[in-house]
Amino acid sequence: MPNISTIDELKKQEEYTDMLKDILFMRYDNNQPKAHVRTYGCQQNVADSEKIKGMLEKMGCELTENTEDADIIIFNTCAVREHAEDRVFGNVGELKALKRRKPSLLIGLCGCMMEQKHISERIYKSFPYVGMVFGTHVIHKFPEMLYNAVTTGKRFVERGTDDGKIYEGIPVHRDGSFKGWLSIMYGCDNFCTYCIVPYVRGRERSRQSKTVLEEAKAMVKSGFKEITLLGQNVNSYGKGLEEKTSFPKLLKNVSEIEGDFWIRFMTSHPKDASKELIDVIADSEKICNHIHLPFQSGSDGILKRMNRHYDKEKYMEIVNYAKSKIPDLALTSDVIVGFPGETYEDFQKTLDLIREVEFTSLFTFIYSPRVGTPAAKMDDPIPYEEKSRWFSELLKVQEEIAAKRCAEMNGKTYRVLVEEQKKDGILCARTQNNIIVEVQGSADLIGTFQNAEVTESRNWILRGKLV
Ligand code: SAH
Ligand code: SF4
Ligand code: F3S
Repeated sequence: MPNISTIDELKKQEEYTDMLKDILFMRYDNNQPKAHVRTYGCQQNVADSEKIKGMLEKMGCELTENTEDADIIIFNTCAVREHAEDRVFGNVGELKALKRRKPSLLIGLCGCMMEQKHISERIYKSFPYVGMVFGTHVIHKFPEMLYNAVTTGKRFVERGTDDGKIYEGIPVHRDGSFKGWLSIMYGCDNFCTYCIVPYVRGRERSRQSKTVLEEAKAMVKSGFKEITLLGQNVNSYGKGLEEKTSFPKLLKNVSEIEGDFWIRFMTSHPKDASKELIDVIADSEKICNHIHLPFQSGSDGILKRMNRHYDKEKYMEIVNYAKSKIPDLALTSDVIVGFPGETYEDFQKTLDLIREVEFTSLFTFIYSPRVGTPAAKMDDPIPYEEKSRWFSELLKVQEEIAAKRCAEMNGKTYRVLVEEQKKDGILCARTQNNIIVEVQGSADLIGTFQNAEVTESRNWILRGKLV
């Protein structure tokens, strides 16, 4: 059960929510206020934004995709790379004109960027029209913070502290009706030397398995066809809980929930990926045969300096075990090019690993120094232009592999989940191993499982027909 202090805290927030219903309604001339929440960054932020939207709805707001229409605008930000931060700074700048046209507009910035003191201070100073600045540790207090902002008219910065608590029962507005996110844990304790996440998300803590299972059951009951279990390192799920549990056990329990649905999970840290995990995936029809297993680098020396706690041999051991156990397995990964001190030789080892594993797709990043992380203080002699050249070399290698992996699917039939319809009427359907197949069909198939035969593969785009 959630502990008493978090229940009391959320009750207090409900009271603020109730008061805000009338206050906001009046503020916007007796019209239902419109709120826009924009999400940057990873699925953790998507899940947090769903909570902010849930709270806004309870305050009587209607959600809108359009900033022009909005009375309340919240940007939920990401700090993982400089590029992500630059986008936020640019987009916030664009809100200035909106605020000038509509002085009653309330603008808030939250999320990982705001947990960094130098950033939240810069935002507060440079953007006087941003009234609310708050971090990841205080999201549950959003109603109280908004109430104070509206009733006093004062701007605020609230970063809070990582109290290690989990606030169960915050209202949630799920973005999708058939694909959904389910956080099983929060924070990260791994402190990879390049990464800002442990500093902005706090210490790792797991939700009780009973609560996770109840939420999963409720999602299945309300028609969800795909549930993605979320955590920065799902493989260490359960650490610190009184109950004796583990990620493979949780995954198995979720897969035993009755109903026709798929399960995905992310992210799996290779240092804690066990054979037991692979066996659970192999044994269940519902758990997708896709593992996102970030390797970051193929060089043992770099992995050590990244503080990743595995080497290439250990990574390949789990990959090969998974390949031997799970038919049609797709592996995807994250990789960083140009970590401080990385040589062209190190980089070639990354390419070797990519060729050996044959990932179906890769998320590729050029190293971006983050203030306060150990890597930001390491010697980094390779110029950015050189890193960019390595990066292009990597993309070329991966493109060929992806095309080859997709070509292997040609002629076969797969069970797919129809996800969306493109502007030209074509439906995008996803296989268990996370590949999109484009098919002809009507929009009412969206959100249903179908069978698709792949009839054409062009690079990494597959076309097919429903059968
Ligand atoms: N918890 C996940 C990753 C979360 S961040 C894991 O451990 O795999 C997503 C990805 O962003 C990371 O896997 C890494 O490849 C990349 N990343 C993180 N910090 C970065 C940095 N400072 N520069 C470049 N890429 C980075
Ligand atoms: Fe960052 Fe490493 Fe934690 Fe992933 S495991 S979030 S890369 S510190
Ligand atoms: Fe970005 Fe925060 Fe996720 S830094 S990657 S949104 S945990």
